[in-house]
Amino acid sequence: MKSVWAALLVAVLTAPAAYAKADYHGLPPAGAAAQGATLVAVCAACHGSNGISVSPAYPNLAGQHYNYILKQLENFRSGARKNAIMSTMAMTIPPSKDHANLKDIAAYFSRLSPMSAHLASPAAAASQQIELGRTIYDRGVAGKDIPSCAACHGLGGEGNGPMAIPVLAGQHAAYVLTQLEQFASGVRHNSPGHVMHSIARAMNAAQEAAIAAYVRQLDPATVLGIGPKDFPAYARTLAPAGTAGRKAAGTPTSSATGAAGAGAAAH
Ligand code: HEC
Ligand code: HEC
Repeated sequence: MKSVWAALLVAVLTAPAAYAKADYHGLPPAGAAAQGATLVAVCAACHGSNGISVSPAYPNLAGQHYNYILKQLENFRSGARKNAIMSTMAMTIPPSKDHANLKDIAAYFSRLSPMSAHLASPAAAASQQIELGRTIYDRGVAGKDIPSCAACHGLGGEGNGPMAIPVLAGQHAAYVLTQLEQFASGVRHNSPGHVMHSIARAMNAAQEAAIAAYVRQLDPATVLGIGPKDFPAYARTLAPAGTAGRKAAGTPTSSATGAAGAGAAAH
């Protein structure tokens, strides 16, 4: 009798492990990216072998966070996120112990050079729409339940790996727009605590389009405080034409820039 209970206990304790969710807050296993390269031939047809997709309707995956990609693949496979094309594609990935195949694929795409590095003209001429997008992205809209996107996705749109918050910088505008629409309508409902549902629902069409245009041209390398810094180039983006005085006041002396540059190089 005792052994029956023991067997049952073992069964109960081990069964959940077989269906356990992938731990998408962890780090990719060693050698995962190289292994992933052998699994992505089918994905490349739409997402590109360099992770830059062939159509703006398909998301770029280059440099997207490992943790986020892993979560999305798991969500497509479980049905938590649905898409006519991608749900089918995710099921073509052969099952593997501890989600090894999903981790390998996620590691592969996360290691490719970031999507923002592929922009033809990162410093796109600032249009009115992009400026509106920047304001909403950086500060949110007070009184309208739209928080600053930067608070979670980063000022440079670089996302947050351990938190599985996606990179937005350099993502296709058409794709970003459909995701915001789908979060708002509830078609996509896999964000933790439905945070993106609440946010997207509070936005109007013009605001969504402005955000999509803004993040498309966003390059984390040009945003102060993130990545390699080029302060003079950054300062130029801040100073509208005809405000030379302000620009001069806000621009550090060349010796300060040089010292900062030398400091960065020394590390
Ligand atoms: C026939 C085209 C096609 C193929 C092939 C394809 N995908 Fe996709 N993929 C899509 C589309 C379309 C979406 C956007 C789905 C949506 O709107 O929810 C997507 C979304 C994704 C996302 C979510 C990205 C994000 O930013 O949220 C990941 C991850 C992904 N695909 C990985 C893969 C992998 C891995 C493979 C290969 C096993 C693959 N895809 C094959 C079309 C494709
Ligand atoms: C509280 C944190 C938080 C804030 C604030 C936030 N987001 Fe998100 N966002 C997330 C998380 C987490 C996800 C990933 C959801 C998932 O797991 O599928 C996400 C996903 C997205 C996606 C989908 C990207 C993709 O590759 O599919 C878009 C687009 C997006 N957010 C845009 C925005 C915009 C625009 C704002 C500001 C108006 C914003 N977010 C504010 C946390 C946040």
